[in-house]
Amino acid sequence: MNLKTDKTIEISLKKHRNPIAQVDNRNLELFEQSVNKLHDFFLKGFDIKATEIEATVPKIHKNISQYHKSLEKFYCNASLNDRPEFKKIYRGLLNPYWKMGSITNRVITKPNGYDGDYMVMQYMYDNKFEGTNNFGKLLHKYVVNDRSSMSVRLRKKYFIKKINQLSDEKKDISVLAFASGGALEIYELLQTQCPLKRVILYDQDKEALDFAKERIEKVNISAEIITINENIITLLKNKGSLLDNYKFDYIYCAGLYDYLSDILALRLNKYMTKLLTKDGLYEFGNFTHFPISFFADIAADWRLILRTKDDLEKLIPQSNKQHSFFKMGDQTFCSIR
Ligand SMILES: C[S@@+](CC[C@H](N)C(=O)[O-])C[C@H]1O[C@@H](n2cnc3c(N)ncnc32)[C@H](O)[C@@H]1O
Repeated sequence: MNLKTDKTIEISLKKHRNPIAQVDNRNLELFEQSVNKLHDFFLKGFDIKATEIEATVPKIHKNISQYHKSLEKFYCNASLNDRPEFKKIYRGLLNPYWKMGSITNRVITKPNGYDGDYMVMQYMYDNKFEGTNNFGKLLHKYVVNDRSSMSVRLRKKYFIKKINQLSDEKKDISVLAFASGGALEIYELLQTQCPLKRVILYDQDKEALDFAKERIEKVNISAEIITINENIITLLKNKGSLLDNYKFDYIYCAGLYDYLSDILALRLNKYMTKLLTKDGLYEFGNFTHFPISFFADIAADWRLILRTKDDLEKLIPQSNKQHSFFKMGDQTFCSIR
């Protein structure tokens, strides 16, 4: 991108402003001024050299966060009806830059049709500099360095430790990775020869399952690996899920409840506990804070349903006497027996 193209964006933006929208003009003006300042800041940093990227990260990221804080104030002052107008201004000027980063491009363009797909997760796990140019790499890092991504990395570590621990206590356990995505934790676990009897990966995204299975097969020597490409609606509507045929010592789920209504989540929990062996364990997590929520929403309509421990308590079926909660970064997890 060069300066000339940027100017074109600015002009076309003004042209596309909806003249009849009843927007609080002063608030919108202030918002637009701040977007322009962030845009100037992007332009200043745009020619960054490869050798300078790493050293610049703290300064650039701090500045983006500060600009976002002031933009968020104006955005929150706007009524729900007016907010699309604010998003249009932000996206018109800044999304062309965000699209230069690999994760930020994927978050904005949603090639698989939904938020937080397996590649978005993979970028978070990898935690590298990735993008079509040096500036894009810096913007990619803004997301993968955020506390939200750190929380994702924490859960991978946790599941590996937990499955190892459970398989030490009981030989040949069966595990269900529910809404598995790319199941990086299973891939890493099987490289350590952890002796699992069976692992089922369940996900609505076939591409994620194929990606997971392909890499797991390269390192797996003993576990039976099954993928089930299904939407949870199938099992919640009792349409006969393939899962009905199995029992599990450990079921875990992360990155799904953030998108589920209370009703669906409660029904899912009832179903999950029926899949457990006598002393089986089900653990699921939900973000309680989403630190990068402003960027996620304004640039990409990526919103999570955040839940506290008290909110999660309401999702536990009454028949489950034994359950507990624990924190992991910005997520709260629940263990059900
Ligand atoms: C944020 S990713 C998390 C992946 C993995 N658990 C992790 O922590 O890296 C959420 C996953 O849930 C899957 N998913 C979302 N809605 C689903 C549904 N209704 N039924 C089945 N899978 C679903 C998506 O396809 C995606 O792979």
